[in-house]
Amino acid sequence: MDAIIFFLALLLQIVASTDVSSCSCGFLDSKTGAVWTDALITYANETEELPGESLIAEDFQNPYEKNWNARYRAGAKSSNLALSESTRSGWNGTAWTLKIDPPTKDHIVIGASIRSIRRDIQYGTFEAALGAPKPGVGGSILSMRLDYNETQTVNLNVMNADAPKDAWTSFMIYGDWRGTRSKGVNFSDFGNNTYSFQGSPWGFVPYRINWDNASNIDFFIGDALARSVRSKGAAKPLPVTPATFRIQHSSFGDMYTSEGPPPNGSDARVGMIRAFFNTSSMSPEDHAAFDKRCHLAPAPTCLVSDTSLRGASNFSLPASRPWKPKAVDYKKRWPAIFVVSVSAAISTILLAHATFKRAPWKQKQAAGSLDPPSAPTANNSGRTSKDLSTTPSFIYSEHDALALTAQLPGVGTPGQVTPGTSTPRASLPPGSSHGSAQIFWASSRDSLEICKVNGNKQAGVQAVVPSTRIGKYDEKKQVEVTVKEIPNTVPAANNASLADAKLPIAAPKQRVDYLAGLVALASVLVTLIHFALTFLPATEIPYTHAHYESEIWALKIVTPYLLTFSWIGPFFTSSTRFLIASYLKSGNLKGVAEKTVGRTPRLIIPCAAVAALEYFCMQVGAINWLEYLPSVTWSTWPYTAGYVTFGHFISEILELMYIIPNAVPQITFNYCIGVLWTIPVQLQNSWLSLLAVIVIREIKTPWKRMGYYAFCILMHYYAMSWGTFFWVGLLIADLDLTYKWKDWLYSRPFVYYPFLTFIALLAVGSPSIDLVGMWKANWNFNTLEFGIHPHQRTGHAVRDTSDYGYPAYYLPRLTALTFSIGFHLLVELSTVVQKFFSNRLLMWLFPHILTLYLIHGLVFWSLGAAICVHLAAHNVPYWANMLIVAICSYTVIFGCLPLLTPILEGLGKSITQKIWQDASSKPPSRRKTLYPFSPEMFEGNEVDDGAKDRDVESQAVKEKM
Ligand SMILES: *[C@@H]1O[C@H](CO)[C@@H](O)[C@H](O)[C@H]1NC(C)=O
Ligand SMILES: *[C@@H]1O[C@H](CO)[C@@H](O)[C@H](O)[C@H]1NC(C)=O
Ligand SMILES: *[C@@H]1O[C@H](CO)[C@@H](O)[C@H](O)[C@H]1NC(C)=O
Ligand SMILES: *[C@@H]1O[C@H](CO)[C@@H](O)[C@H](O)[C@H]1NC(C)=O
Repeated sequence: MDAIIFFLALLLQIVASTDVSSCSCGFLDSKTGAVWTDALITYANETEELPGESLIAEDFQNPYEKNWNARYRAGAKSSNLALSESTRSGWNGTAWTLKIDPPTKDHIVIGASIRSIRRDIQYGTFEAALGAPKPGVGGSILSMRLDYNETQTVNLNVMNADAPKDAWTSFMIYGDWRGTRSKGVNFSDFGNNTYSFQGSPWGFVPYRINWDNASNIDFFIGDALARSVRSKGAAKPLPVTPATFRIQHSSFGDMYTSEGPPPNGSDARVGMIRAFFNTSSMSPEDHAAFDKRCHLAPAPTCLVSDTSLRGASNFSLPASRPWKPKAVDYKKRWPAIFVVSVSAAISTILLAHATFKRAPWKQKQAAGSLDPPSAPTANNSGRTSKDLSTTPSFIYSEHDALALTAQLPGVGTPGQVTPGTSTPRASLPPGSSHGSAQIFWASSRDSLEICKVNGNKQAGVQAVVPSTRIGKYDEKKQVEVTVKEIPNTVPAANNASLADAKLPIAAPKQRVDYLAGLVALASVLVTLIHFALTFLPATEIPYTHAHYESEIWALKIVTPYLLTFSWIGPFFTSSTRFLIASYLKSGNLKGVAEKTVGRTPRLIIPCAAVAALEYFCMQVGAINWLEYLPSVTWSTWPYTAGYVTFGHFISEILELMYIIPNAVPQITFNYCIGVLWTIPVQLQNSWLSLLAVIVIREIKTPWKRMGYYAFCILMHYYAMSWGTFFWVGLLIADLDLTYKWKDWLYSRPFVYYPFLTFIALLAVGSPSIDLVGMWKANWNFNTLEFGIHPHQRTGHAVRDTSDYGYPAYYLPRLTALTFSIGFHLLVELSTVVQKFFSNRLLMWLFPHILTLYLIHGLVFWSLGAAICVHLAAHNVPYWANMLIVAICSYTVIFGCLPLLTPILEGLGKSITQKIWQDASSKPPSRRKTLYPFSPEMFEGNEVDDGAKDRDVESQAVKEKM
């Protein structure tokens, strides 16, 4: 009986309604004056199924989502669309129900989607009664969109959010899902005086999009304007391409906008759709015909506001095909292509010419002729890293002694002889950077003594010079002269003999390769941490979804030891030594002065150069795929953005120099992988170390000195300052350089072995404390430890403030400190550990660690992201995907190290050296322009009237001088 009445009512309604096909002259919007030619109108309470001639339910599965925070991928299936009676306010009768399934283990959320069959919709007014997803079941999005592609999109999104109080509707263009709340309206504001929406926002709400033309887009809640976008002042042109109309219910777990997904599924409702629009498929002739028909002899025009309109305009088949932009006309580009090719050719020729002129390989051979023939180097990397990057890291930057030698032509060329040195290391490839690193370390270590040349051929040549340069006060002058002369006068070949002459003095000295090895290993581990954070978040961040069970195990077992940020500790503790060693030994303030001058440019110039390079890469689209990555990796950690204006870039770089740790410089949030926060820590604590060493050296009584150390370390620790690490580094260097504790320890095995055991426990035990935190849910040592420190704003213990919790990544922790101390000492004192850290691979890597540190993020986030997203789209298993991404990324990173390091070193080190040389040494007296020819050579032969006069003049000048 009910059904009969329903159909009767339906019949009556249909009789009472007007079919849109009768409106042959389009639809007039009396509010805006616009006339739209076509319409698509359907009411869910008057039909039993979707009007198949104009709308279809979609089936699809997105392989990835474009969203920085989407951890799930949306999909749709037509069976999730149903028609059912609605009891919600704002709508009577049946409505379409768009269901969403619970998320799968693979992070897929299947929802429902309706789209118009025609895809030629270009401007119009679009209205729909949308019933938000249910409150409190988990966030999802009911969206009404006009889209062509990602950027050519106009959409509004009704979002219930996880907590009903956060529910809101956003109004977006460019397919912008995220965005601030300023681009939307919270449900709680629907009723306020601006929108005066009478019903419940949880019931059906009539939303409207007015896409008037290429310069106006307005969004409405009911009849109230909610957001208005104008092309004037917009950063990008507004969407203009022919679009498809779509209503979709989806969820991808964006924790900042929609939240979700609903763990048990959810549903949303659609009551009616009323769309009036123009079509892009009308040709100019059609337009003329329409104008003629409707303007000259007015035919019946319908009104947009007429609610009795039903049905859909007819359309031709081409209207259902997506619009295609016209192919690019290459003819216009030929001049540009021509210019680019010519420029590229000229550049190539110039570069080739320079390379041939400099002939680096020739030098090698010439040097090699003095030597038992050395095997050809397999790769070029050896040379570059050797000659130009003798000094490696950002940390051990301005080691003094090598400053000069590194620039000597011929010095340090692989394969040079140092007769009389002890056992050559057969395993060392010629041209490996090993020697330089070693020497550098050695020289900074003992500037007054002659470095050890043991085992490395080049070493001797290089080693002599630093030793001579610094010299002793009796011989100093003469020696310095020698050194100064070298760059100008002594040709490369002679260096060998110079070296030979000096070599007998060179006595074997201790090497500190192992510290270089430790730092190299630490930097590789830091890149691994970033790899894990980007691609395998579950191995680094507790309570995130894992692709495999093994990731959880890795988190609980491997991460606390290998993938922990405690690994940055050794960078800090070991860097002090190279700042203060020369002053500690000699008491000569010159060493301090040099470091004070050189430290900042040495650190900042490479950072600024790489940051500029990265921003360039970002701007040309290298990291486009990064935004798709979270939906595949489920990690929302990677995020980066270009700087806003060039002024911001400059400001970011200045911040690196002047910001006080533990504040985080802004560049950290823009740069690919926020490693740069450690630069201010390094920089500021360099001043601390340089000042500290001056004080320390004046305290002569050992117990007072140790007391001062203890006091400073405790204070820094309590104040949560990274200074602790540097004080500890200073202490360790002092114990070694001043008190020679190694000799003391080595000669007393009863002290040595227990002490070794203790520091081994310290090194292994500290991460174990973190390990316990991983297993015990509500206990974390770092949080507890954070609690006892003072809170800066209030002065209370952090424990008693609202900031109490897990400490931020840029705050020092006790476990990191003890770990660093333990590891540093272990490496200093245990010969077995030293052997491991002196291995060839780490020695090769050491000169490159600054480059590695600065560029690994860019590679992960550009190449790595692109490979990962594409493989995932082809359903490659995730473990295989990760394997391929890791191999490709690391190959590229290690491959470009030898190319980039020389540039960075050139920028950082050479400039720094120049600055210091200019500042500290008297410029050599100017040479006559005729040098090396004597003036007499010319004067004698000149037949010239004025010659005699000039002779007299020059004579006078000479006498004056
Ligand atoms: C369907 O709903 C619309 C809007 O509420 C209403 O105007 C129309 O009369 C309804 N149709 C029927 C057959 O009840
Ligand atoms: C639904 O029906 C009720 C009762 O007949 C009526 O008061 C209300 O206005 C209707 N709502 C809509 C949106 O048509
Ligand atoms: C979307 O289409 C417009 C117009 O053809 C085009 O300019 C733009 O590059 C496209 N965007 C994407 C992401 O494909
Ligand atoms: C209504 O809420 C919006 C925020 O969504 C706010 O901008 C507006 O000022 C509010 N209007 C009134 C009259 O409070």
